[in-house]
Amino acid sequence: MSANAHMLLVDPAHFDVRYVINPWMQPAHWARERGVHMAQARAGFDALCAALVSIGCRVSVMPGAAGLPDMVFPANAGIVLDRRVLVARFRHPERQGEEAEFEAMFRRLQAIGVVDLVETLPAGCHQEGAGDCIWDAHRGLFWAGWGPRSSRAAIERIADFFGQPVVPLELVTARAYHLDVCFCPLSGGELLYYPPALSAASRALVEARVAPALRIEASADDLAHFNVNAVNVGREVVMSRCTGRLRAMLSERGYRVHEVDLSPFMLSGGGAFCMTLRLDRHSCVEPAGQRKTPRRKCGTGLALGVGGA
Ligand code: ARG
Repeated sequence: MSANAHMLLVDPAHFDVRYVINPWMQPAHWARERGVHMAQARAGFDALCAALVSIGCRVSVMPGAAGLPDMVFPANAGIVLDRRVLVARFRHPERQGEEAEFEAMFRRLQAIGVVDLVETLPAGCHQEGAGDCIWDAHRGLFWAGWGPRSSRAAIERIADFFGQPVVPLELVTARAYHLDVCFCPLSGGELLYYPPALSAASRALVEARVAPALRIEASADDLAHFNVNAVNVGREVVMSRCTGRLRAMLSERGYRVHEVDLSPFMLSGGGAFCMTLRLDRHSCVEPAGQRKTPRRKCGTGLALGVGGA
């Protein structure tokens, strides 16, 4: 079976760095050479699309919207699994306008048969999409970050809606304000992550589920290069310019690293993973030969619509 990962990206025409909602954002630096950064952003975006296509992804690009500069990070648009979508609720007013844009986009995807169900979260229950809720296909569970952006209360909603196990991870640093900045499960079961970003109790939850031999610890430098914020499909890993150390660790484990210059987006606190949203994830379908652990049966009593119409 061919694993054609379907990635949604948002055109960067309206990308900008003009407010600060995470410690990486540098509006002053950005403003000094805005034109140059904009041109580099376009080039970086095009290179990211090309890299994704080169590893076999199907790429869909939606337009951004004026006044919503962070829409270029659709990982935060919602959580998608088994053709079901839980639309994000943003913590910061600066991004709340994105909710309606992304919901309308998901409804269009529903109308054309890409997804079956689109649901929203109750007011006040913050959840910033796949940026804070990452599907681990190897283990058949979600890892969900909470703290800086997403509410702890969202965890139960996610579990109910998708009928899948969710492991809550408390994020305790401002730098790793979304889980995807510090946490990247890989197809072979390895976990690339930065342990200091998690509370001690959450580190214990990870250690209970990921064997020591499968843990790849990122350095603070890897984090700062947004190398943990990577897109992994099969043995391919797409990320911003990579530290030599991490590249060696990944290739030792049989992964090919594809580097893209995403520095303009890093000035907003984002890398490759947050610039994408994977639309085709299914809880029961794996690329052949990837799964090493047995898993429970599909369905869990919910009408998940696995396999599509
Ligand atoms: N400036 C954006 C924000 O702070 C960056 C979002 C990056 N997204 C992510 N999933 N890490 O919200």
